[in-house]
Amino acid sequence: MFSREAITALQAARSVTVLTGAGVSAESGVPTFRGAGGLWRNYQATSLATPEAFAKDPELVWEFYNYRRELLAPLKPNPGHFALAALEAAAPGFALVTQNIDNLHRIAGAKNLIELHGNIWQVRCSDPVCESAAAPRENREVPVSPIPPRCGICGGHLRPHVVWFGEMLDPEVIGTAIRAAEESDFFIVAGTSAVVQPAAGMPLLARRAGAFVLEVNPERTDLSPAMNESVQAASGEALPTLVEAAFGG
Ligand code: OAD
Repeated sequence: MFSREAITALQAARSVTVLTGAGVSAESGVPTFRGAGGLWRNYQATSLATPEAFAKDPELVWEFYNYRRELLAPLKPNPGHFALAALEAAAPGFALVTQNIDNLHRIAGAKNLIELHGNIWQVRCSDPVCESAAAPRENREVPVSPIPPRCGICGGHLRPHVVWFGEMLDPEVIGTAIRAAEESDFFIVAGTSAVVQPAAGMPLLARRAGAFVLEVNPERTDLSPAMNESVQAASGEALPTLVEAAFGG
């Protein structure tokens, strides 16, 4: 499935960085963004996951997130998540950058995890001047009740700690992710359609900085031609095979 060159480069790497997207969680039962489905009641998810929708109707947006919490709560990491945790344990330096908000990498044992788009199990105050806005905290209620939940500090509405459409990513989080891409000797991009920036640019940055760049995705993507190697396979099968070939036995 993987070339000898890829395996050797992975074994020799001092620093490995991985970028994942929704496809890595597909085998756990999480729907991808650009696949089938995507309507909740009669709403497009993209019209509810916005600051404007929350300002207009915070209760409706929280109903949507309660639905997503119910969907995600019972799901478990798949062999792809576990293989990346094993890779983290085997590699001298490692960072996992994910666009996923589902927490499955952490449940699988990821330690140096950079969550570009936040985490659905965290909340923060929606008022940017409140100190809680900069200090997300865990909330595992399924469902969250009552909605919208209130901030204990200022009484404002709490919101999910996720990046919504039309919002900027946290510049510090992006900076850490970009540094990890540039410093890596081996870069894996798995389960992302690689159309949303800045994540989509990271594999190219890594390649320009000298890393061996490997893509794992059942489909070819816009990134595929620019990779050192592009393997068309599901990550739950391919990632365990890769880690076993490089570090097993
Ligand atoms: P997409 O839904 O755009 O892409 C999912 C990718 O996973 C596709 O390229 C599929 O071919 C691939 N895929 C499907 N099954 C797979 C499997 N078993 N193994 C490996 N790959 C598989 O999801 P993302 O690229 O994550 O942002 O989307 C990026 C961002 O767009 C999301 O984080 C979200 C959305 O806007 C925010 O919510 C801010």
